[in-house]
Amino acid sequence: MPRILMIVGSLRKQSFNHQLAREIERIIGDRAEVTFLDWGDVPLMNQDIEWPAPEAVQRVRDAVLAADGLWFFSPEYNYQIPGGLKNLLDWLSRPLDEHDRTSPSAIKGKRAAISGVGGRNATAGMRKDLERLFSATGVQIIGGPSLGISLTPEEWSSDVLTPEPGTLGALGAAVDDYLAALER
Ligand SMILES: Cc1cc2nc3c(=O)[nH]c(=O)nc-3n(C[C@H](O)[C@H](O)[C@H](O)COP(=O)(O)O)c2cc1C
Repeated sequence: MPRILMIVGSLRKQSFNHQLAREIERIIGDRAEVTFLDWGDVPLMNQDIEWPAPEAVQRVRDAVLAADGLWFFSPEYNYQIPGGLKNLLDWLSRPLDEHDRTSPSAIKGKRAAISGVGGRNATAGMRKDLERLFSATGVQIIGGPSLGISLTPEEWSSDVLTPEPGTLGALGAAVDDYLAALER
């Protein structure tokens, strides 16, 4: 059974992106083992504290290394990737061996999908940023193009994500494509 690690770029308790990740988890059902990355305590990147890796950094690296696939869900902040998620990816992009700067990082070679919920822009800026970051850090995008969702006024006011049937169909197709790509 493939192991999928969900990485949500928002730390907000009622995060729409977290809600979307839960919806995807529900659609995946028993076709994969799904876990969520707990990254809220990762410190700000500072090369003075890079070695030995802080405990929280070691924990997120181990979780990423153990996963067969990653799935990112993130809002965009000012049409860009949120700073917290960028910081996490900067840590994950660094070599694992202090004495061999050419050693692989935790994220290099990983396969990942990108999804995001937000305003009218449907997180297009974040998704583009993440694609560039993946290209810089050796992450392969799988399962087709990234998926962006715009919130309705009702969703904004209730703080509850309620995907329409058409959106649910698109999520189901994205899950099928992602799982098929993981099997290859
Ligand atoms: C600093 C900041 C910048 C934001 N910039 C954008 C933006 O550029 N585009 C957008 O659609 N929403 C933007 N928003 C609104 C977020 O989409 C909204 O807060 C959303 O609920 C965040 O995702 P979450 O529910 O997963 O936490 C911004 C929010 C914050 C806090």
